[in-house]
Amino acid sequence: MSEKELIELGKKNAAIKAIEENLKKNMILGIGSGSTVVYAVEKIGEMNKSEDLNLKCIPTSFQSYQLIIENGLALVSLDQYPEVDLDIDGADEIDKDLNLIKGGGGCLVQEKIVASNSKKLIIIADFRKDSNHLGEQWKKGVPIEVIPIAYVPIIKRLNSLGGNSVLRMAKMKAGPLVTDNSNFIIDVDFGIIKNPSELNQKILQIPGVVDTGFFINMASNAYIGQKNGTILKKKKN
Ligand code: A5P
Repeated sequence: MSEKELIELGKKNAAIKAIEENLKKNMILGIGSGSTVVYAVEKIGEMNKSEDLNLKCIPTSFQSYQLIIENGLALVSLDQYPEVDLDIDGADEIDKDLNLIKGGGGCLVQEKIVASNSKKLIIIADFRKDSNHLGEQWKKGVPIEVIPIAYVPIIKRLNSLGGNSVLRMAKMKAGPLVTDNSNFIIDVDFGIIKNPSELNQKILQIPGVVDTGFFINMASNAYIGQKNGTILKKKKN
């Protein structure tokens, strides 16, 4: 199998296992974003059809809004259901304490809102995402969503915190990427991050920062699909 096929298999195995082990009837679900979540929503859709699970799904992006609809699931909002039973999402990197970097797909703000209102956040990922410290595996920088008019001063401040910042550009459109919330994303390379919680707090204090891609102390479990087809399960201590 090629590396690409092994990655896809890792994502799929992790997603299916996480759903089989955690999905229950009548749940209010948070549906994350990214390519791994696609496998999870397909599985949720299949199980919901065959077992009539009466699930309600809250999206975390335009992508997951569409996924919910395409898979025949009931779409609801946090306004209606502010307490989520289970949130399933991917990650760009997962450290030994289950702290995460997210936002590689540009959807971190809504993801964090839903995650922070969920009783349980389960992360599904392939073997590339597993690391000891954040920044070891994910080399594209920590995504930071910002208010557009503030991006230049914010970049200066992020660089003074030791980062190397790049404004994320759109593909197939001239200019910056615009998020689902009409903001910009700055990707900041901080190298290997020993204290993500402290760095997160410093970044959140910069005016114009909407939120960071650090998800600190939020995930309760991670299912990580390995190259050999097994799943590495990590649990918060
Ligand atoms: C979306 O912005 C992200 O937070 C995703 O959850 C993360 O980038 C993982 O995506 P993949 O499942 O595509 O790797």
